[in-house]
Amino acid sequence: MVTSEAAPFAKTGGLADVLGSLPPALVEKGEQVAVVLPAYGTIDLRGAERVYNELTVWLDSGRYDCSIERIIRHGVHYLFVNCPGIYGRQGIYGDRFGEFGDNAIRYAVLCRTARGVASRIFRPDVIHCHDWQASLVPVFLKSTFRHDPVFYGIKTLLTIHNLGYQGRYGREVLPYIAVPSEAMHPEGMEYYGDINYLKGGIVYSDYITTVSPRYAQEIQTPEFGFGLDPLLRARRFFLAGILNGVDYDEWDPATDRYLPAHYDSESLEGKLACKKALLEEFGLPVDEIETRPLLGIVSRFAEQKGLDLVADCIQGIADLGAQMVVLGSGDPKLERTFGSFANARPHQFGYRSGYNEGLAHRIEAGSDMFLMPSRYEPCGLNQIYSLKYGTVPIVRATGGLDDTVTGDAGFKFFGSNAHDLYNCIRYAIEQFPDRESWKRRMKLGMAEDFSWAVSADRYVELYRRLRESR
Ligand code: ADP
Ligand code: GLC
Repeated sequence: MVTSEAAPFAKTGGLADVLGSLPPALVEKGEQVAVVLPAYGTIDLRGAERVYNELTVWLDSGRYDCSIERIIRHGVHYLFVNCPGIYGRQGIYGDRFGEFGDNAIRYAVLCRTARGVASRIFRPDVIHCHDWQASLVPVFLKSTFRHDPVFYGIKTLLTIHNLGYQGRYGREVLPYIAVPSEAMHPEGMEYYGDINYLKGGIVYSDYITTVSPRYAQEIQTPEFGFGLDPLLRARRFFLAGILNGVDYDEWDPATDRYLPAHYDSESLEGKLACKKALLEEFGLPVDEIETRPLLGIVSRFAEQKGLDLVADCIQGIADLGAQMVVLGSGDPKLERTFGSFANARPHQFGYRSGYNEGLAHRIEAGSDMFLMPSRYEPCGLNQIYSLKYGTVPIVRATGGLDDTVTGDAGFKFFGSNAHDLYNCIRYAIEQFPDRESWKRRMKLGMAEDFSWAVSADRYVELYRRLRESR
């Protein structure tokens, strides 16, 4: 596998969770898996073993001397591409000054190194690429290295975790990333005169998956296709949706190491203790803890997540008497809105900006309901965690949210404006006082199983089909 993130080493979102949990699940099924990713400056490589000293990549932009460092975790070989000049920084895609200006090159080097790994270090049957950052692998294999016998028979699979990020750059980067100009045409990776990494991946990989069945359908429509829907429709016989699993070793309220108390569907008392501790952590009053619902949000503040809808009806939510805690950062306008609302209503509303793993777990456990009003959501993991934590999800009926929140285990709304969200929240809050039926609702979600066991089988089957295809 080739990726830009993998938990616990480097994470900005759900992609990392998947790369931390799918590969071990595949190993349990008898596959051998190596994961190639950059050795970012934030990763602790003490304890890693250097398995290759000089893997040099030549691009027209220069010479990149990489070494490969290995950490074996749950039977998976995580292979870190060590090239301090481009990866040894305190950020994954950017820092406080914004996106790194050389990301086009950083991920071209990753893909070229992956090719080196495949020929010299870990010989795969299938190279499974994730998102635009790994999308040049199939491009290189089907162009520059098309006649290289080393790669005969190796198949490529691209998984799209988010079509909204495509790696689109001006044509001028072409000479720097060693993509041959033969790939630069509208049926290749050219997109309105620009170069589009993800498009290249979609065109040149042998098969494409995305992370839920519903999203696999949605991306073939103009509304969700981000301009690539005609291409995805053309490749629809090589496209499938495989729902993400989650890692219950990390996300289970009975064992979660970040929680002050534990619980399961048989004994829910610990959840109340988690709620109390969470309210205290945010300095919110606990006097009506059993009757006053607490809503939680953990999210990147990106357009995709629809949190502007929450901001638009926040006063209405407050008037319903609910308390609310929010963790996340991104869009500065949303950060200001949530920050000032927390200041204005310190007894009702709490906000923490930034990334905080432990707090994310404590919000999942301590909240009564979890909000995900996403405009689109390829899969979404937080609503799956919420189900397991007895925290009733309130979601927009799209993508993986629609596939995973079913029956009475959660609440869904179908429209796209703040009124639709508000009405759904109000309805949920009206159900909250009936404690017995609410508990039944919680238990429905807690009984569901989204572990990798099932979805990993679908990947194994797909790899087998790819291996056997000519
Ligand atoms: P996406 O990948 O689009 O951000 P997902 O729901 O698939 O959405 O995954 C998000 C993951 O990132 C979850 O594991 C979630 O807990 C985590 N996460 C998001 N924001 C934060 C944050 N501010 N602090 C800690 N974890 C976060
Ligand atoms: C992306 C998507 C999210 C998905 C995650 C893991 O970040 O936005 O919906 O759960 O990838 O596949």
